[in-house]
Amino acid sequence: MASRYHDVYAGWQRDPEGFWADAARDIDWFKPWDRVFDASQGVYGRWFTGAECNTCYNAVDRHLAGGRADQVALIHDSTITGTKRSFTYAELKREVIALASAIRNQGVGKGDRVIIYMPMVAEAAIAMLACARLGAVHSVVFGGFAAKELATRIDDAKPKLIISASCGLEPGRVVAYKPLLDGAVDLARHKPDRCLILQRPQQACDLIQGRDVDYADIVARERAAGANVDCVPVAATDPLYVLYTSGTTGQPKGVVRDNGGHMVALKWSMENEFGVKPGEAFWAASDVGWVVGHSYIVYAPLLHGCTSILYEGKPVGTPDAGAFWRVIAEHGVVALFTAPTAFRAIKKEDPQGALIPNYDLSKFRTLFLAGERADPETIKWAERNLKVPVIDHWWQTETGSPISQNPMGLGQLPVKYGSPCVPMPGYDVQVLDDAGHAVPRGTLGNVVVRLPLPPGCLPTLWNADQRFRDAYLAEFPGYYKTADAGYIDHDGYLFIMARTDDIINVAGHRLSTGGMEEVVAEHPDVAECAVIGIADEMKGQVPCGFVVLNAGVARDAASIEREVIGLVREKIGPVAAFKTVLAVKRLPKTRSGKILRGTMQKIADKEAWAMPATIDDPAILDEITVALHERGIGV
Ligand code: COA
Ligand code: AMP
Repeated sequence: MASRYHDVYAGWQRDPEGFWADAARDIDWFKPWDRVFDASQGVYGRWFTGAECNTCYNAVDRHLAGGRADQVALIHDSTITGTKRSFTYAELKREVIALASAIRNQGVGKGDRVIIYMPMVAEAAIAMLACARLGAVHSVVFGGFAAKELATRIDDAKPKLIISASCGLEPGRVVAYKPLLDGAVDLARHKPDRCLILQRPQQACDLIQGRDVDYADIVARERAAGANVDCVPVAATDPLYVLYTSGTTGQPKGVVRDNGGHMVALKWSMENEFGVKPGEAFWAASDVGWVVGHSYIVYAPLLHGCTSILYEGKPVGTPDAGAFWRVIAEHGVVALFTAPTAFRAIKKEDPQGALIPNYDLSKFRTLFLAGERADPETIKWAERNLKVPVIDHWWQTETGSPISQNPMGLGQLPVKYGSPCVPMPGYDVQVLDDAGHAVPRGTLGNVVVRLPLPPGCLPTLWNADQRFRDAYLAEFPGYYKTADAGYIDHDGYLFIMARTDDIINVAGHRLSTGGMEEVVAEHPDVAECAVIGIADEMKGQVPCGFVVLNAGVARDAASIEREVIGLVREKIGPVAAFKTVLAVKRLPKTRSGKILRGTMQKIADKEAWAMPATIDDPAILDEITVALHERGIGV
């Protein structure tokens, strides 16, 4: 069957507002919009102005009226603890109401911020929905971040309440969350009024009298009292959440998501982009701390009336490389969304896919990959072994849903390996040179999106309109800068090749090398440093640090390297996967003093490189090459 994509995209181009007004009919509104798009509001305009709605109502309550009360809404499958828990839509509503009532009794109301710092437990999703029900703004912080990262987010979001847990579970290791939480609250200038702590049986924690409240106790009390909490009407343009993502410094950017446009975009994407029907099981194997978790573990599947899987475990080692197939088979998953790195890990453990035939994957229709460039080898391996379409799609925390994709619901387009396919309605994607001129098809350049961004994209950064303008809109007037470099081929397919800033992508996790440099530079023996991302077979990229020690430091360089590694783990978190540091005599620089990180990266990745014309001292690159080769890098 021919794809409807080209017609649908052309329809959006002809009448963008009509397109989104039609899509918005799939959402229940308390009050309709005055304007579909009001260019006079916000930084570049706002969607569905004047409308009132509630995201929790659309994700939960309306499915009860729509006949889904007894359908499973959410399954927590923990391969680490060997436990499974499921909630029908009716049960999910009861849980969300009990928690919403509990947090309302702690003084949280519309517009107040709540930080959620939790492992992959059902309560993390319930907490997000409870905030949405009250019109409170949640900010989920990934559990793999350390206390300092959490503290930075506390100071920016200024939450009244933090919801956390006693521990998270990594393979073979219990991660105590409470010391990280307490450390963050100590470090932060802003202090939350209360912390709600979910005690997990694997490791309980002490509660601080007067500040901490036991999650299970308080929710049980609300349940017993038969608490009710109606969904609070909020403006479509009110924030649903703030999600911090790496910027070019250690200060993360608070990406704001609104309520109305977000629901419209996600609901549309489930049917048309992911080709999933209400009632089917959808699994995004990510973490609620990332945008993929927000959009495709929690909000999109629930808005669409699907069953969503919240998985606590890894693709390998928990217990083996068949873990993903077990989950698909057991829960009748029709579509899995994960990062290519997960498949590289599986491929490495089980190169022939020998574990796959042990599971009934008859319901499984499509594999979606995003978060980093999907390398053709991994796609082909998955196609060969799973015998389903493997779809690469490209998006960012800022957009909240795919910018480009092979739209399965509209009819699959031919796959081009290495390309996340074509722009979705809402996105007029262009490639510009550094001076802002359009480049010919097939030419690499800055990938940008013509304003306005579609519903669901960030309207601004939290309390930082000017930073939003500076970071995204200033360089190419009239466009949003994605900070990705790529090209569009003659068939209109996009190819996303690299970042144009210092962000690196480690196992699908977005991290700032600038942020890591800030931490490395704190070591008392370090005079200067550089952190680059180098190619890694499994994680895509990993960071590699270079340090120049202060004159007169007599200590053993290897000990200092170990301390620097420890410092990054302590200040940013284990998720940075910062495990390589090289003490070098000097760093290569231009005559104006800019560190030649790009050239160092090319040497480490064994890519062709040319001596930069502006280099101060070419001999330093030889020293760097020798230092890398001594560690077996770039050999
Ligand atoms: N809380 C505490 N620590 C965490 C954590 C969490 N929520 N998540 C990860 N970590 C720790 C890990 O234990 C690991 O610590 P270690 O250095 O002591 O081993 C470190 O952070 C790096 O974790 P991770 O990136 O998960 O790497 P890994 O080597 O443990 O596993 C993969 C590699 C490929 C299996 C894993 O990265 C993976 O499953 N990736 C899927 C991609 C994904 O979910 N991307 C999200 C965006 S779609
Ligand atoms: P995040 O905000 O964490 O989702 O990271 C977004 C960044 O990940 C993008 O700007 C890209 O650099 C990269 N990325 C995400 N998906 C893809 C993809 N399908 N292909 C290439 N790069 C991708």
